[in-house]
Amino acid sequence: MSKLTLNDLDLKDKRVLVRADFNVPQDAELNITDDTRVRATLPTLKFILQNGAKKIILISHLGRPDGKVAPKYSLAPVARRLQELMGVPVKFVSDCVGDALNKDIASCAEQVVLLENLRFHAEEEANDPGFAKELASLADVFVNDAFGTAHRAHASTEGVAYYLRSAAGLLLEKEIKYLGDAVAKPARPFVVVLGGAKVSDKIGVIENLLPKCDGLVIGGGMCYTFLKAQGKQIGKSKLEADKVELAASLLDKAKIANKFILLPVDHLVVDNIAVDAKTEIVGENIPDSKIAVDIGPKTIALFCEKLKTAKTVVWNGPMGIFEMEPFAKGTRAIAECIASSGCTSIIGGGDSAAAVAKFKLDDKMTHISTGGGASLEFLEGKILPGIAALTEK
Ligand code: 3PG
Repeated sequence: MSKLTLNDLDLKDKRVLVRADFNVPQDAELNITDDTRVRATLPTLKFILQNGAKKIILISHLGRPDGKVAPKYSLAPVARRLQELMGVPVKFVSDCVGDALNKDIASCAEQVVLLENLRFHAEEEANDPGFAKELASLADVFVNDAFGTAHRAHASTEGVAYYLRSAAGLLLEKEIKYLGDAVAKPARPFVVVLGGAKVSDKIGVIENLLPKCDGLVIGGGMCYTFLKAQGKQIGKSKLEADKVELAASLLDKAKIANKFILLPVDHLVVDNIAVDAKTEIVGENIPDSKIAVDIGPKTIALFCEKLKTAKTVVWNGPMGIFEMEPFAKGTRAIAECIASSGCTSIIGGGDSAAAVAKFKLDDKMTHISTGGGASLEFLEGKILPGIAALTEK
């Protein structure tokens, strides 16, 4: 990587500002329901402490409080979880800027400090240079480990990097390695599995990865627009009518480039989307009154056969409405197939990561991205501002 990494920094006796993505899901009582993103930052924090840093000053956002203080978006529960996970005291400070902050941090006994939600200040999302400078004034060096927020050009992800020597943390480095290098120089065959609700969300990924991969496997809500483009009957299944032409042109493009695109050949259908809805398997054409909610058994066999031959798989988007157990079979089967195939498996964040976690296959995948929107933009080949702003080697 052309950017500084932790190994390039002299951390001894330094105050280290670390941007993490602690945007974690919580329940109504503000209990953290998934601490993956907190755990994913631990290697970086341990590395910094082991290399003799004086202080770690952690900054993050949580939710979208729109520049106003909102107690339900406080990072205090994250500070408590972080302390449990790290096994060292973590001080929580109730703001992220202010006159007394520098002194408070310097005089506290704790080596690890977490500041309150950056997005309680409108200047964060506005990438205000004064705000970025204030954050930078808290430390000697900056480490960005917030891959999940690297697609945002905010004061704490982009602006601050212009005021301090700035390096990628271990998580950010790992994400770049898998989503970037493994995709640029894949072991072949390289198969991209796409699903999820909308074609429009995945156009950029298809256009960027089609020339690099050997073929695409497409399921989920987005596949019905492709099937419509092939002249198939899709009943009342999800359709983006204004994307049918685009889907047809992507199918043509793949054909010309000699890349395969596998689409479902049978479907699990219902009359209405409800957990207790009566389900039925239909073939290629979906009757007018039916809605497809998952791929069918022949499709599972077809997709898995292809996936078994792959050496690299990138997967982004579920095959059906996997959140509802009766419609989760296709997504589960694809996850199991990828997990057992022995390939380098790279799972995009968001829904696919949630599916892999639900099926308890996390430790069978090579890399599961912690970024939802960020992993999608990275796979689209975009330059993420949080990475671009880091100091060159
Ligand atoms: C995410 O959860 O995708 C990141 O934390 C970014 O959050 P945002 O979409 O609110 O910027």
